[in-house]
Amino acid sequence: MELRLKERLGRKFDEEIRFFKGWIDGPKRVGAICPTSSVTAKRMASVIDTASGLPVLELGPGTGIITKAILRHGVSPENLVSIEYSTDFYQHLVRTFAGVSFINGDAFDLERTLGAWKDKTFDSVVSAIPLLSFPMERRIALLEDLLNRIPAGRPVMQITYGPVSPIIANPDRYRIKHYDFVVRNIPPAQLWTYTRA
Ligand SMILES: C[S@@+](CC[C@H](N)C(=O)[O-])C[C@H]1O[C@@H](n2cnc3c(N)ncnc32)[C@H](O)[C@@H]1O
Repeated sequence: MELRLKERLGRKFDEEIRFFKGWIDGPKRVGAICPTSSVTAKRMASVIDTASGLPVLELGPGTGIITKAILRHGVSPENLVSIEYSTDFYQHLVRTFAGVSFINGDAFDLERTLGAWKDKTFDSVVSAIPLLSFPMERRIALLEDLLNRIPAGRPVMQITYGPVSPIIANPDRYRIKHYDFVVRNIPPAQLWTYTRA
């Protein structure tokens, strides 16, 4: 087998083991049973407007598949802020993606977790937080907080595995759009965007 292919397969296997270990440590926090596929990650990153020059906020990067897609989309590492709750994942991310501002903390407590970034306006948010593991009031509060940190009309992109939006409709406050259904993901993933009208 060609050496580069062997290396790639080895890295993918490493990611899966790391993910599985994270899942054993906290299945509800991790949410999914497998890392996000690169196809899904690319779709999620596609909503970012690199021309805005604004930083991007990522939530729940896990093993970093979506982080990689965001960087490949053209966001410079210095313009990416990424919050991960698990210290294990966080340490791996810091070692893997030089220059990205990873924060080991709770995305539901942004005012504290964002630290020096708390007063910044972000272009958009790309989130893999397992929202279905949290009560609806906390999901809504998180979304409201996120929408206040990006310009009107710019999206919060969320991955989920249920058939409906993980956040209930409230047309007076935000718009919900079903962005995509990605079959090439285990399990198949639903992508939703939320924007301030
Ligand atoms: C579905 S996994 C993300 C999978 C990731 N896309 C990958 O391919 O590795 C969800 C991630 O959200 C993180 N997470 C869960 N609750 C969080 C919180 N409150 N704040 C920040 N990260 C959180 C988990 O530790 C996990 O890494």
